[in-house]
Amino acid sequence: MKTLSIVKIGNPVLREKARAVSFKEIRSARFRRFLKQMVAAMRAGKGVGLAANQVGAAFRVIVLESRKNPRYPDAPDFPLEILINPRIAKYSPVKETGWEGCLSVPGYRGLVTRSKAVVLEALSSSGVKLRKNAEGFYARVLQHEIDHLNGLLYVDRMKNLRNWHHLDEYDGQS
Ligand code: NI
Repeated sequence: MKTLSIVKIGNPVLREKARAVSFKEIRSARFRRFLKQMVAAMRAGKGVGLAANQVGAAFRVIVLESRKNPRYPDAPDFPLEILINPRIAKYSPVKETGWEGCLSVPGYRGLVTRSKAVVLEALSSSGVKLRKNAEGFYARVLQHEIDHLNGLLYVDRMKNLRNWHHLDEYDGQS
């Protein structure tokens, strides 16, 4: 299987608004292969999520998974999920502040305030419409990855760059 490499901050594709995926594309063998490659790239990078822009393909696909991840030792687990054309339909007014990292910004963690809960709308990997509630760390990852599809990085969401730490200096406190 072809290994996709992850582009880093500064690459213009991370600033593109990704385009929607069509039902015809979802069924194509090429697209099915691409989804597998994205999951492999996320796991190889030990990420908890990955957006297609991050592998240089500006269309609306994200993958996420959290399972005993050494990059996020305190993170709760959630199963592998592949989401096509995802969008946040509703943001809770209640916010929560937490540390985020990004495979496209390697070596750093930043403190970001986001909605504590969201309502997600997306297509499953087989093209079935889904709508569900998400909260906590899972909701944070969803918001982070969907931001990627709109050309945004977590650093754009930071209120204070003093809360941007190199991993060598990071202790999870602020
Ligand atoms: Ni990211």
